[in-house]
Amino acid sequence: MSLFPIKYLLNAEHVLNSNYLKTHITIKEPQTPKEFEAYYLLRYEILRKPWNQPPGSEKDAYEDSSIHIMACDQNDSIIGICRLQLNSPTETQLRFMGVKEDTQGLGIGKLLLDYSEKKAKHLGANKQVLQARENALEFYKKCGYTLIEKSFLLWDEIQHYLMEKKI
Ligand SMILES: CC(C)(COP(=O)(O)OP(=O)(O)OC[C@H]1O[C@@H](n2cnc3c(N)ncnc32)[C@H](O)[C@@H]1OP(=O)(O)O)[C@@H](O)C(=O)NCCC(=O)NCCS
Repeated sequence: MSLFPIKYLLNAEHVLNSNYLKTHITIKEPQTPKEFEAYYLLRYEILRKPWNQPPGSEKDAYEDSSIHIMACDQNDSIIGICRLQLNSPTETQLRFMGVKEDTQGLGIGKLLLDYSEKKAKHLGANKQVLQARENALEFYKKCGYTLIEKSFLLWDEIQHYLMEKKI
């Protein structure tokens, strides 16, 4: 069941040099088969395709028991995604976080993360953990996550780091 759709107006002055960008963003949970199709496609495009991973590799065995979250623009196109997994009654794990390349740096990743934390608290969790790709470490630090340890190397290439935040 969806927490609620949350609507935001982003005023991104700091991007595109002096061009002033206003973007309406809604954070919600996919409901229809069409929304899920677009959601998994974006996950594949951002997190699997650039490393030549096959279609289907964007899913794991926990999809049915997880909470799926997406960011939509003013045309209702999906521009960001993440997934919340329950590790225990008090711990959630954020996975598969990605924002479409041409809309990165506008605050959309932070909106997705904020929604996941609200949802996690709503479910009774007091800690959220994640495995950060090296390129995303600073993003998660800015959002209040603490680095715990260097963890694993994905596809012999992408170093991951375990991070956590009390929520
Ligand atoms: C990592 C990612 C999800 C961040 O989403 P985003 O929408 O670009 O990030 P936001 O605009 O919400 O950034 C929030 C804050 O983090 C900062 N930030 C984001 N990415 C950063 C980076 N790579 N280095 C330093 N700071 C960064 C922003 O400047 C912003 O700071 P501010 O609040 O002071 O302005 C996105 O860049 C992405 O999809 N990357 C490719 C896929 C990926 O690596 N996913 C993570 C898998 S673990």
